Amino acid sequence: MKTQKTIRAALLGCGTVGGGVYKLLDRRKEELADKAGASLEISAVLVHNVNKKREGVDPSLLTDDFERIANDPSIDIVIEVMGGIEPARTMILRSLRAGKNVVTANKDLIAVHGSELLSAARENKVDLLFEAAVAGGIPIIRPLKQCLAGNELSDVVGIVNGTTNYILTKMFEENMDFDAALEKAKELGYAEADPTADIEGLDAGRKVAILASTAFHSPVVFDDVYTEGITKISSSDIKYAKEFDCVIKLLGIARERQEQIEAYVCPMLLPADHPLATVRGSFNAVFVHGDAVDDVMFYGRGAGEFPTASAVVGDVIDVMRNMEYGCTGRIGCGCYRSVPVKQFRDVKNKFFIRMQVINRPGVLAAIAGELGRHKVSISKVVQKVITKGSAELVIVTEDVKEYHMSEALEDLKELEPVQEISSVIRSY
Ligand SMILES: NC(=O)c1ccc[n+]([C@@H]2O[C@H](COP(=O)([O-])OP(=O)(O)OC[C@H]3O[C@@H](n4cnc5c(N)ncnc54)[C@H](OP(=O)(O)O)[C@@H]3O)[C@@H](O)[C@H]2O)c1
Repeated sequence: MKTQKTIRAALLGCGTVGGGVYKLLDRRKEELADKAGASLEISAVLVHNVNKKREGVDPSLLTDDFERIANDPSIDIVIEVMGGIEPARTMILRSLRAGKNVVTANKDLIAVHGSELLSAARENKVDLLFEAAVAGGIPIIRPLKQCLAGNELSDVVGIVNGTTNYILTKMFEENMDFDAALEKAKELGYAEADPTADIEGLDAGRKVAILASTAFHSPVVFDDVYTEGITKISSSDIKYAKEFDCVIKLLGIARERQEQIEAYVCPMLLPADHPLATVRGSFNAVFVHGDAVDDVMFYGRGAGEFPTASAVVGDVIDVMRNMEYGCTGRIGCGCYRSVPVKQFRDVKNKFFIRMQVINRPGVLAAIAGELGRHKVSISKVVQKVITKGSAELVIVTEDVKEYHMSEALEDLKELEPVQEISSVIRSY
Protein backbone atom coordinates (compact mmCIF):
# COMPACT_ATOMS: atom_id res chain seq x y z
CA MET A 1 0.00 0.00 0.00
CA LYS A 2 1.28 3.46 -0.94
CA THR A 3 2.00 5.55 2.16
CA GLN A 4 0.51 9.01 2.07
CA LYS A 5 3.05 11.75 2.63
CA THR A 6 1.87 14.68 4.74
CA ILE A 7 3.21 18.22 4.43
CA ARG A 8 2.70 20.50 7.40
CA ALA A 9 1.92 24.20 7.13
CA ALA A 10 1.25 27.11 9.48
CA LEU A 11 -1.10 30.00 8.88
CA LEU A 12 0.00 33.43 10.10
CA GLY A 13 -3.33 35.25 10.41
CA CYS A 14 -6.88 34.00 10.40
CA GLY A 15 -8.96 36.97 9.33
CA THR A 16 -10.80 37.39 6.02
CA VAL A 17 -8.11 35.73 3.87
CA GLY A 18 -6.72 33.32 6.48
CA GLY A 19 -10.22 32.04 7.30
CA GLY A 20 -10.89 31.53 3.58
CA VAL A 21 -7.60 29.68 3.10
CA TYR A 22 -8.32 27.40 6.05
CA LYS A 23 -11.82 26.55 4.75
CA LEU A 24 -10.70 26.10 1.14
CA LEU A 25 -7.85 23.77 2.11
CA ASP A 26 -10.34 21.78 4.14
CA ARG A 27 -12.75 21.64 1.16
CA ARG A 28 -9.95 20.39 -1.16
CA LYS A 29 -8.48 17.94 1.41
CA GLU A 30 -9.34 14.75 -0.47
CA GLU A 31 -8.02 15.97 -3.83
CA LEU A 32 -4.74 17.42 -2.59
CA ALA A 33 -2.91 14.10 -2.58
CA ASP A 34 -3.78 13.60 -6.26
CA LYS A 35 -3.12 17.19 -7.19
CA ALA A 36 0.04 17.79 -5.21
CA GLY A 37 1.40 14.33 -4.34
CA ALA A 38 0.90 14.77 -0.60
CA SER A 39 -1.75 15.71 1.88
CA LEU A 40 -1.58 19.01 3.75
CA GLU A 41 -2.04 19.51 7.45
CA ILE A 42 -2.40 22.94 9.01
CA SER A 43 -0.57 22.47 12.28
CA ALA A 44 -0.70 26.00 13.74
CA VAL A 45 -2.66 29.20 13.23
CA LEU A 46 -1.06 32.40 14.52
CA VAL A 47 -3.50 35.13 15.63
CA HIS A 48 -3.56 38.14 17.92
CA ASN A 49 -6.46 36.99 20.00
CA VAL A 50 -6.53 33.23 20.67
CA ASN A 51 -9.83 33.52 22.53
CA LYS A 52 -11.84 34.87 19.57
CA LYS A 53 -14.22 32.27 18.14
CA ARG A 54 -13.40 31.39 14.51
CA GLU A 55 -15.97 29.45 12.60
CA GLY A 56 -14.72 26.11 11.27
CA VAL A 57 -11.20 26.51 12.72
CA ASP A 58 -9.92 23.91 15.20
CA PRO A 59 -9.29 26.05 18.36
CA SER A 60 -6.44 23.78 19.48
CA LEU A 61 -4.36 25.06 16.54
CA LEU A 62 -4.59 28.73 17.57
CA THR A 63 -1.48 30.31 19.01
CA ASP A 64 -0.12 33.79 19.59
CA ASP A 65 3.44 32.49 19.83
CA PHE A 66 5.35 32.69 16.54
CA GLU A 67 8.36 30.95 18.14
CA ARG A 68 6.35 27.75 18.25
CA ILE A 69 6.08 27.89 14.44
CA ALA A 70 9.60 29.20 13.71
CA ASN A 71 11.21 26.48 15.82
CA ASP A 72 9.09 23.58 14.57
CA PRO A 73 11.19 21.77 11.92
CA SER A 74 8.19 19.72 10.81
CA ILE A 75 6.50 22.87 9.38
CA ASP A 76 7.58 23.24 5.74
CA ILE A 77 5.18 25.95 4.53
CA VAL A 78 4.31 29.25 6.20
CA ILE A 79 1.25 31.04 4.82
CA GLU A 80 1.42 34.72 5.81
CA VAL A 81 -2.00 36.35 5.67
CA MET A 82 -1.85 38.80 8.55
CA GLY A 83 -0.77 41.91 6.61
CA GLY A 84 1.32 44.98 7.49
CA ILE A 85 5.08 45.41 7.32
CA GLU A 86 6.15 44.31 10.80
CA PRO A 87 6.14 41.76 12.32
CA ALA A 88 5.26 40.08 8.99
CA ARG A 89 8.65 40.92 7.42
CA THR A 90 10.67 39.51 10.32
CA MET A 91 8.48 36.40 10.53
CA ILE A 92 8.83 35.72 6.80
CA LEU A 93 12.61 36.25 6.87
CA ARG A 94 12.97 33.91 9.84
CA SER A 95 10.81 31.30 8.13
CA LEU A 96 12.81 31.48 4.88
CA ARG A 97 16.12 31.29 6.75
CA ALA A 98 14.80 28.24 8.61
CA GLY A 99 14.28 26.56 5.22
CA LYS A 100 10.51 26.99 5.17
CA ASN A 101 8.64 27.94 1.99
CA VAL A 102 6.44 31.03 2.26
CA VAL A 103 3.19 31.98 0.55
CA THR A 104 1.95 35.51 1.21
CA ALA A 105 -0.89 37.84 0.17
CA ASN A 106 0.88 40.86 1.63
CA LYS A 107 1.13 43.59 -1.05
CA ASP A 108 2.26 46.29 1.41
CA LEU A 109 5.28 44.16 2.30
CA ILE A 110 6.19 42.83 -1.17
CA ALA A 111 5.91 46.32 -2.72
CA VAL A 112 8.59 47.61 -0.34
CA HIS A 113 10.70 44.63 0.77
CA GLY A 114 10.13 42.20 -2.13
CA SER A 115 13.80 42.16 -3.22
CA GLU A 116 15.08 41.45 0.28
CA LEU A 117 12.59 38.63 0.83
CA LEU A 118 13.13 37.08 -2.61
CA SER A 119 16.92 37.15 -2.04
CA ALA A 120 16.46 35.34 1.27
CA ALA A 121 14.28 32.76 -0.50
CA ARG A 122 16.94 32.25 -3.19
CA GLU A 123 19.77 31.89 -0.64
CA ASN A 124 17.79 29.21 1.16
CA LYS A 125 16.50 27.51 -2.02
CA VAL A 126 12.88 27.80 -0.94
CA ASP A 127 9.77 29.24 -2.57
CA LEU A 128 8.35 32.69 -1.83
CA LEU A 129 5.10 33.00 -3.76
CA PHE A 130 2.72 35.98 -3.68
CA GLU A 131 0.05 35.53 -6.35
CA ALA A 132 -2.67 36.93 -4.04
CA ALA A 133 -0.76 40.17 -3.44
CA VAL A 134 -1.91 41.64 -6.77
CA ALA A 135 -5.55 41.60 -7.86
CA GLY A 136 -6.63 38.92 -5.36
CA GLY A 137 -8.11 35.97 -7.22
CA ILE A 138 -6.84 36.96 -10.67
CA PRO A 139 -3.83 34.96 -11.82
CA ILE A 140 -1.33 37.61 -12.92
CA ILE A 141 2.05 37.11 -11.21
CA ARG A 142 2.43 33.54 -12.47
CA PRO A 143 1.35 34.47 -16.04
CA LEU A 144 3.85 37.36 -16.07
CA LYS A 145 6.69 35.20 -14.71
CA GLN A 146 5.93 32.00 -16.59
CA CYS A 147 3.32 31.91 -19.35
CA LEU A 148 4.43 35.23 -20.88
CA ALA A 149 8.18 34.71 -20.31
CA GLY A 150 8.72 34.46 -24.08
CA ASN A 151 7.68 38.09 -24.54
CA GLU A 152 9.23 41.46 -24.16
CA LEU A 153 6.44 43.13 -22.21
CA SER A 154 5.87 46.85 -22.73
CA ASP A 155 2.57 47.67 -20.99
CA VAL A 156 0.81 46.41 -17.89
CA VAL A 157 -2.28 48.48 -17.18
CA GLY A 158 -4.70 47.51 -14.47
CA ILE A 159 -7.86 48.28 -12.62
CA VAL A 160 -6.44 46.81 -9.44
CA ASN A 161 -8.61 48.33 -6.73
CA GLY A 162 -12.18 47.10 -6.41
CA THR A 163 -13.33 49.82 -4.00
CA THR A 164 -12.54 52.68 -6.38
CA ASN A 165 -13.85 50.80 -9.40
CA TYR A 166 -17.12 50.22 -7.54
CA ILE A 167 -17.37 53.94 -6.63
CA LEU A 168 -16.60 55.13 -10.17
CA THR A 169 -19.10 52.63 -11.62
CA LYS A 170 -21.85 53.94 -9.31
CA MET A 171 -20.97 57.54 -10.24
CA PHE A 172 -21.01 56.67 -13.93
CA GLU A 173 -24.06 54.41 -14.12
CA GLU A 174 -26.30 55.83 -11.38
CA ASN A 175 -25.18 59.47 -11.36
CA MET A 176 -24.23 59.21 -7.68
CA ASP A 177 -21.81 61.76 -6.32
CA PHE A 178 -18.50 60.60 -4.84
CA ASP A 179 -19.59 60.77 -1.17
CA ALA A 180 -22.82 58.80 -1.75
CA ALA A 181 -20.98 56.15 -3.76
CA LEU A 182 -18.32 55.84 -1.04
CA GLU A 183 -21.03 55.40 1.63
CA LYS A 184 -22.64 52.66 -0.47
CA ALA A 185 -19.25 50.94 -0.86
CA LYS A 186 -18.81 51.02 2.93
CA GLU A 187 -22.31 49.61 3.48
CA LEU A 188 -21.52 46.65 1.20
CA GLY A 189 -18.12 46.00 2.78
CA TYR A 190 -16.18 47.06 -0.34
CA ALA A 191 -14.65 50.04 1.48
CA GLU A 192 -13.04 50.04 4.91
CA ALA A 193 -14.00 52.45 7.71
CA ASP A 194 -10.82 54.38 6.80
CA PRO A 195 -10.85 54.20 2.99
CA THR A 196 -7.72 56.39 2.46
CA ALA A 197 -5.47 53.63 1.05
CA ASP A 198 -8.08 52.78 -1.59
CA ILE A 199 -9.47 56.17 -2.61
CA GLU A 200 -6.08 57.91 -2.66
CA GLY A 201 -4.61 55.24 -4.96
CA LEU A 202 -2.07 53.88 -2.44
CA ASP A 203 -3.32 50.29 -2.54
CA ALA A 204 -3.21 50.33 -6.35
CA GLY A 205 0.26 51.93 -6.19
CA ARG A 206 1.62 48.98 -4.21
CA LYS A 207 0.26 46.59 -6.81
CA VAL A 208 1.76 48.65 -9.64
CA ALA A 209 5.20 48.40 -7.96
CA ILE A 210 4.88 44.60 -7.85
CA LEU A 211 3.53 44.37 -11.41
CA ALA A 212 6.28 46.62 -12.81
CA SER A 213 9.09 44.68 -11.08
CA THR A 214 7.66 41.39 -12.26
CA ALA A 215 6.95 42.44 -15.85
CA PHE A 216 10.16 44.38 -16.51
CA HIS A 217 12.62 42.28 -14.45
CA SER A 218 13.88 45.32 -12.57
CA PRO A 219 13.11 46.38 -8.99
CA VAL A 220 10.38 49.00 -8.61
CA VAL A 221 9.26 49.90 -5.09
CA PHE A 222 6.14 51.66 -3.85
CA ASP A 223 8.08 54.96 -3.39
CA ASP A 224 8.86 54.96 -7.14
CA VAL A 225 5.15 54.98 -8.02
CA TYR A 226 3.30 58.29 -8.40
CA THR A 227 -0.19 57.96 -6.90
CA GLU A 228 -3.30 60.10 -7.26
CA GLY A 229 -6.76 59.08 -6.06
CA ILE A 230 -10.33 59.63 -7.21
CA THR A 231 -11.63 62.08 -4.59
CA LYS A 232 -11.63 65.04 -7.00
CA ILE A 233 -13.72 63.35 -9.70
CA SER A 234 -17.08 65.12 -9.96
CA SER A 235 -20.42 64.43 -11.64
CA SER A 236 -19.57 67.12 -14.23
CA ASP A 237 -16.40 65.24 -15.22
CA ILE A 238 -18.44 62.05 -15.61
CA LYS A 239 -20.93 63.89 -17.84
CA TYR A 240 -18.16 65.07 -20.17
CA ALA A 241 -16.57 61.59 -20.19
CA LYS A 242 -19.90 60.24 -21.47
CA GLU A 243 -20.10 62.97 -24.07
CA PHE A 244 -16.60 62.03 -25.29
CA ASP A 245 -17.57 58.31 -25.38
CA CYS A 246 -15.21 57.53 -22.51
CA VAL A 247 -15.41 56.16 -18.98
CA ILE A 248 -13.31 57.30 -16.01
CA LYS A 249 -11.24 54.56 -14.34
CA LEU A 250 -8.52 54.54 -11.70
CA LEU A 251 -5.71 53.01 -13.74
CA GLY A 252 -2.45 51.55 -12.46
CA ILE A 253 0.10 51.96 -15.23
CA ALA A 254 3.43 50.19 -15.64
CA ARG A 255 5.18 50.79 -18.96
CA GLU A 256 8.62 50.41 -20.36
CA ARG A 257 9.60 53.06 -22.90
CA GLN A 258 13.12 53.76 -24.21
CA GLU A 259 14.89 51.82 -21.42
CA GLN A 260 12.90 53.58 -18.70
CA ILE A 261 10.03 52.35 -16.55
CA GLU A 262 6.94 54.49 -16.00
CA ALA A 263 4.91 53.56 -12.92
CA TYR A 264 1.90 55.53 -11.72
CA VAL A 265 -1.72 55.44 -10.58
CA CYS A 266 -4.31 58.07 -11.44
CA PRO A 267 -7.90 58.41 -12.62
CA MET A 268 -8.05 58.55 -16.41
CA LEU A 269 -10.55 59.06 -19.18
CA LEU A 270 -10.53 55.77 -21.06
CA PRO A 271 -12.22 55.24 -24.44
CA ALA A 272 -15.38 53.16 -24.03
CA ASP A 273 -14.12 50.62 -26.57
CA HIS A 274 -10.99 49.74 -24.56
CA PRO A 275 -11.36 46.28 -22.92
CA LEU A 276 -10.68 47.79 -19.46
CA ALA A 277 -13.68 50.12 -19.89
CA THR A 278 -16.00 47.12 -19.58
CA VAL A 279 -14.72 46.26 -16.07
CA ARG A 280 -17.58 47.26 -13.78
CA GLY A 281 -18.33 47.28 -10.05
CA SER A 282 -15.80 45.73 -7.69
CA PHE A 283 -14.17 43.62 -10.41
CA ASN A 284 -10.52 44.04 -11.34
CA ALA A 285 -8.60 43.43 -14.55
CA VAL A 286 -5.04 43.64 -15.81
CA PHE A 287 -4.32 44.35 -19.46
CA VAL A 288 -0.89 43.33 -20.74
CA HIS A 289 0.89 43.94 -24.04
CA GLY A 290 3.79 41.77 -25.14
CA ASP A 291 5.71 41.76 -28.42
CA ALA A 292 4.73 38.17 -29.22
CA VAL A 293 1.36 37.65 -27.56
CA ASP A 294 -0.04 41.11 -28.51
CA ASP A 295 -2.81 42.10 -26.04
CA VAL A 296 -4.05 39.87 -23.20
CA MET A 297 -6.41 40.70 -20.38
CA PHE A 298 -6.91 38.98 -17.01
CA TYR A 299 -10.25 39.65 -15.34
CA GLY A 300 -11.89 38.67 -12.06
CA ARG A 301 -12.40 39.30 -8.38
CA GLY A 302 -9.58 41.37 -6.93
CA ALA A 303 -10.40 40.73 -3.28
CA GLY A 304 -12.65 38.82 -0.89
CA GLU A 305 -12.39 35.73 1.27
CA PHE A 306 -12.52 32.97 -1.33
CA PRO A 307 -11.17 34.73 -4.44
CA THR A 308 -8.04 35.67 -2.47
CA ALA A 309 -7.90 32.20 -0.88
CA SER A 310 -8.03 30.75 -4.40
CA ALA A 311 -4.73 32.47 -5.25
CA VAL A 312 -3.11 31.56 -1.91
CA VAL A 313 -4.11 27.90 -2.15
CA GLY A 314 -2.89 27.76 -5.77
CA ASP A 315 0.51 28.93 -4.50
CA VAL A 316 0.47 26.39 -1.67
CA ILE A 317 -0.19 23.58 -4.15
CA ASP A 318 2.68 24.85 -6.32
CA VAL A 319 5.03 24.71 -3.31
CA MET A 320 3.85 21.15 -2.53
CA ARG A 321 4.54 20.09 -6.13
CA ASN A 322 7.99 21.68 -6.02
CA MET A 323 8.69 19.89 -2.74
CA GLU A 324 7.68 16.58 -4.30
CA TYR A 325 10.32 17.04 -7.02
CA GLY A 326 12.94 18.71 -4.80
CA CYS A 327 12.88 21.93 -6.82
CA THR A 328 11.67 24.64 -4.46
CA GLY A 329 13.12 28.06 -5.26
CA ARG A 330 12.91 27.20 -8.98
CA ILE A 331 11.14 30.43 -9.95
CA GLY A 332 12.33 33.17 -7.62
CA CYS A 333 13.15 36.81 -8.16
CA GLY A 334 13.03 37.65 -11.85
CA CYS A 335 14.89 40.97 -11.49
CA TYR A 336 18.02 40.47 -13.59
CA ARG A 337 18.17 44.07 -14.92
CA SER A 338 18.35 47.51 -13.44
CA VAL A 339 16.17 49.88 -15.44
CA PRO A 340 15.65 53.43 -14.09
CA VAL A 341 12.15 54.53 -13.14
CA LYS A 342 11.28 57.70 -15.04
CA GLN A 343 10.57 60.73 -12.85
CA PHE A 344 6.85 61.40 -13.05
CA ARG A 345 7.45 64.99 -14.22
CA ASP A 346 8.86 63.58 -17.47
CA VAL A 347 5.96 61.18 -18.16
CA LYS A 348 3.75 62.16 -21.11
CA ASN A 349 -0.05 61.96 -21.12
CA LYS A 350 -3.02 63.62 -22.71
CA PHE A 351 -5.04 65.86 -20.37
CA PHE A 352 -8.69 66.81 -19.95
CA ILE A 353 -8.97 70.30 -18.43
CA ARG A 354 -12.30 71.73 -17.33
CA MET A 355 -12.35 75.41 -16.42
CA GLN A 356 -14.70 78.32 -15.80
CA VAL A 357 -13.92 81.40 -17.88
CA ILE A 358 -15.31 84.84 -18.63
CA ASN A 359 -17.43 84.59 -21.77
CA ARG A 360 -16.13 87.20 -24.14
CA PRO A 361 -14.35 87.28 -27.51
CA GLY A 362 -10.64 86.45 -27.51
CA VAL A 363 -10.65 84.30 -24.36
CA LEU A 364 -10.14 81.03 -26.18
CA ALA A 365 -7.26 82.48 -28.17
CA ALA A 366 -5.59 83.76 -24.99
CA ILE A 367 -5.87 80.34 -23.34
CA ALA A 368 -4.64 78.49 -26.43
CA GLY A 369 -1.70 80.92 -26.63
CA GLU A 370 -0.74 80.30 -23.01
CA LEU A 371 -0.92 76.52 -23.50
CA GLY A 372 1.13 76.77 -26.70
CA ARG A 373 3.83 78.73 -24.86
CA HIS A 374 4.24 75.64 -22.63
CA LYS A 375 4.38 73.16 -25.55
CA VAL A 376 0.80 71.99 -24.91
CA SER A 377 -1.13 71.23 -28.13
CA ILE A 378 -4.91 71.10 -28.09
CA SER A 379 -6.84 68.22 -29.68
CA LYS A 380 -10.40 69.11 -28.68
CA VAL A 381 -12.32 72.10 -27.27
CA VAL A 382 -15.90 72.23 -25.97
CA GLN A 383 -17.41 75.46 -24.68
CA LYS A 384 -20.75 75.71 -22.91
CA VAL A 385 -22.33 78.97 -21.85
CA ILE A 386 -23.31 78.74 -18.18
CA THR A 387 -24.54 82.31 -17.62
CA LYS A 388 -24.51 85.31 -19.89
CA GLY A 389 -21.05 86.35 -18.64
CA SER A 390 -19.37 83.03 -17.99
CA ALA A 391 -18.73 79.75 -19.76
CA GLU A 392 -17.37 76.31 -19.03
CA LEU A 393 -14.47 75.45 -21.25
CA VAL A 394 -13.17 71.91 -21.69
CA ILE A 395 -9.88 71.32 -23.44
CA VAL A 396 -8.35 67.95 -24.28
CA THR A 397 -4.65 68.11 -25.07
CA GLU A 398 -2.27 66.02 -27.13
CA ASP A 399 0.49 64.13 -25.27
CA VAL A 400 2.44 66.50 -23.05
CA LYS A 401 5.04 66.05 -20.32
CA GLU A 402 3.74 66.41 -16.77
CA TYR A 403 5.99 69.34 -15.93
CA HIS A 404 4.96 71.29 -19.04
CA MET A 405 1.33 70.72 -18.13
CA SER A 406 1.73 71.78 -14.50
CA GLU A 407 3.65 74.92 -15.46
CA ALA A 408 0.96 75.74 -18.04
CA LEU A 409 -1.77 75.27 -15.41
CA GLU A 410 0.03 77.56 -12.94
CA ASP A 411 0.13 80.30 -15.61
CA LEU A 412 -3.46 79.66 -16.76
CA LYS A 413 -4.69 80.28 -13.21
CA GLU A 414 -3.13 83.75 -13.38
CA LEU A 415 -4.81 84.58 -16.70
CA GLU A 416 -7.47 87.24 -16.13
CA PRO A 417 -10.41 85.55 -17.95
CA VAL A 418 -9.83 82.20 -16.16
CA GLN A 419 -12.08 82.15 -13.11
CA GLU A 420 -11.40 78.61 -11.95
CA ILE A 421 -9.67 75.44 -13.10
CA SER A 422 -12.25 72.92 -11.99
CA SER A 423 -10.69 69.58 -13.08
CA VAL A 424 -7.53 68.21 -14.55
CA ILE A 425 -7.74 64.52 -15.49
CA ARG A 426 -5.33 62.52 -17.61
CA SER A 427 -6.65 60.75 -20.66
CA TYR A 428 -5.48 57.28 -21.76
N1 LIG B 1 -9.09 41.00 2.34
C1 LIG B 1 -8.85 40.82 1.05
O1 LIG B 1 -9.76 40.71 0.24
C2 LIG B 1 -7.42 40.76 0.56
C3 LIG B 1 -7.17 40.61 -0.81
C4 LIG B 1 -5.85 40.48 -1.26
C5 LIG B 1 -4.80 40.54 -0.33
N2 LIG B 1 -5.09 40.72 1.00
C6 LIG B 1 -3.97 40.76 1.93
O2 LIG B 1 -4.09 39.64 2.82
C7 LIG B 1 -3.58 39.98 4.10
C8 LIG B 1 -4.64 39.69 5.17
O3 LIG B 1 -5.78 40.50 4.92
P1 LIG B 1 -7.15 40.24 5.71
O4 LIG B 1 -8.16 41.09 5.03
O5 LIG B 1 -7.41 38.79 5.87
O6 LIG B 1 -6.80 40.89 7.14
P2 LIG B 1 -7.64 40.72 8.49
O7 LIG B 1 -9.01 40.26 8.22
O8 LIG B 1 -7.42 41.98 9.26
O9 LIG B 1 -6.87 39.53 9.26
C9 LIG B 1 -5.59 39.66 9.81
C10 LIG B 1 -5.30 38.44 10.68
O10 LIG B 1 -3.95 38.48 11.11
C11 LIG B 1 -3.90 38.40 12.53
N3 LIG B 1 -2.78 39.26 12.95
C12 LIG B 1 -2.54 40.52 12.55
N4 LIG B 1 -1.42 40.97 13.12
C13 LIG B 1 -0.96 39.97 13.91
C14 LIG B 1 0.17 39.82 14.76
N5 LIG B 1 1.05 40.81 14.93
N6 LIG B 1 0.33 38.66 15.41
C15 LIG B 1 -0.55 37.67 15.24
N7 LIG B 1 -1.65 37.73 14.46
C16 LIG B 1 -1.84 38.88 13.80
C17 LIG B 1 -5.23 38.87 13.05
O11 LIG B 1 -5.48 38.24 14.29
P3 LIG B 1 -6.90 38.46 15.10
O12 LIG B 1 -7.92 37.76 14.27
O13 LIG B 1 -6.68 37.82 16.42
O14 LIG B 1 -7.08 39.95 15.14
C18 LIG B 1 -6.17 38.35 11.93
O15 LIG B 1 -6.49 37.01 12.17
C19 LIG B 1 -3.13 41.44 3.98
O16 LIG B 1 -1.76 41.47 3.66
C20 LIG B 1 -3.95 41.98 2.83
O17 LIG B 1 -3.32 43.07 2.19
C21 LIG B 1 -6.37 40.82 1.46
